[in-house]
Amino acid sequence: MMKNILVTGGAGYIGSHTTLQLLLGGFKVVVVDNLDNSSELAIQRVKELAAEFSSNLSIVKVDLRDKLAVEKLFSWTKFDAVIHFAGLKAVGESVQKPLLYYNNNIIGTVNLLEVMSLHGCKRLVFSSSATVYGWPKEVPCTEEFPLSAANPYGRTKLFIEEICRDVQRSDAEWKIILLRYFNPVGAHPSGHIGEDPRGIPNNLMPFMQQVAVGRRPHLTVYGTDYNTKDGTGVRDYIHVVDLADGHIAALNKLFKANLACEVYNLGTGKGTTVLEMVAAFEKASGKKIPIVMAERRPGDAEIVYASTEKAERELNWRAKYGIDEMCRDQWNWASKNPYGYGSPDNKDD
Ligand code: NAD
Ligand code: UFG
Repeated sequence: MMKNILVTGGAGYIGSHTTLQLLLGGFKVVVVDNLDNSSELAIQRVKELAAEFSSNLSIVKVDLRDKLAVEKLFSWTKFDAVIHFAGLKAVGESVQKPLLYYNNNIIGTVNLLEVMSLHGCKRLVFSSSATVYGWPKEVPCTEEFPLSAANPYGRTKLFIEEICRDVQRSDAEWKIILLRYFNPVGAHPSGHIGEDPRGIPNNLMPFMQQVAVGRRPHLTVYGTDYNTKDGTGVRDYIHVVDLADGHIAALNKLFKANLACEVYNLGTGKGTTVLEMVAAFEKASGKKIPIVMAERRPGDAEIVYASTEKAERELNWRAKYGIDEMCRDQWNWASKNPYGYGSPDNKDD
């Protein structure tokens, strides 16, 4: 029997890539998304890429805070597991609008868990983030590191992790995997799906991609006095397709193993500086990226990268791609879709 998976936020960046890998892996998928930060076109493209598996995908436009609508969905369809991506993720916006973040991320999740419980669907994979390590005192970050939050967005991840632990402790039928992503970048190698942020991108790669296609004049490099090889910040960039495959590995674990609530880092275990990333992207795109050196960005950590041992050992998963492939696929997506899924007229930048 094919397993039926509900993917919340499946029209988004990581969700669309994971949905594709699920379909290709023989799963049935229902995407639920309010399309607040995504386009239905992403789902159409996933269908095209999934070819003969496309009939196993459907999308429902629902906001997770609309509990009645979520209940309706569960009463129509039996789900074997849920992968929960849906949430708001802009750090700066979360500082300006904390209540929006608590409302959307926390209430959406609590509704989802309540409805899952009611319908006896008690297998969950949740998108957490390396942000829960705060400013790590040492690297690589292992799953046992102390947790903290530097902003309201990070606090929603921390709270949801704790909520999941409480729910599982209250009812041993629950099996939950919390995945802490490091820095997802790149795109599907076809160049048909990728990241399409609204407005001015906060993150390095989407910003650099917009410089390369001529939408922005230069990249600002935040901080040149960090204690790193070239003075710029170090992160663990992971190809989004590797990340998507990590979710399949987590699902397989949920279906096979006897577990309670487990947490895994999804990263490559390698640290790369901002300037190394710029050089790799220039090589992949053949474009010069003008840079302006600036002060550190408030709140940024110096060096963050993952220990990947636990995921390798227990999920039997490891990242395959390096930064050259990440930049190649990012550029392939950018050059084919300089305005993402929208036309230049629809872009609010
Ligand atoms: P994204 O914004 O592209 O995707 C999130 C999707 O969820 C969007 O399609 C959005 O429309 C939808 N959504 C948001 N609130 C919703 C709601 N209340 N009801 C229904 N749908 C809703 O983001 P992404 O980069 O694909 O991230 C997916 C998840 O991974 C998020 O939870 C994010 O916090 C987490 N994460 C992302 C990163 C990253 O750097 N991209 C890093 C760590 C963790
Ligand atoms: N950077 C620049 N210029 C930019 C953007 C970023 O120099 O225009 C630098 C940052 O200072 C940092 C590095 O590039 O040193 C990476 O920055 P990102 O904003 O791409 O990523 P962060 O590691 O700061 O944060 C991201 C997400 C968080 C998430 C975290 C861990 O934004 O939500 O990864 O997963 F929590």
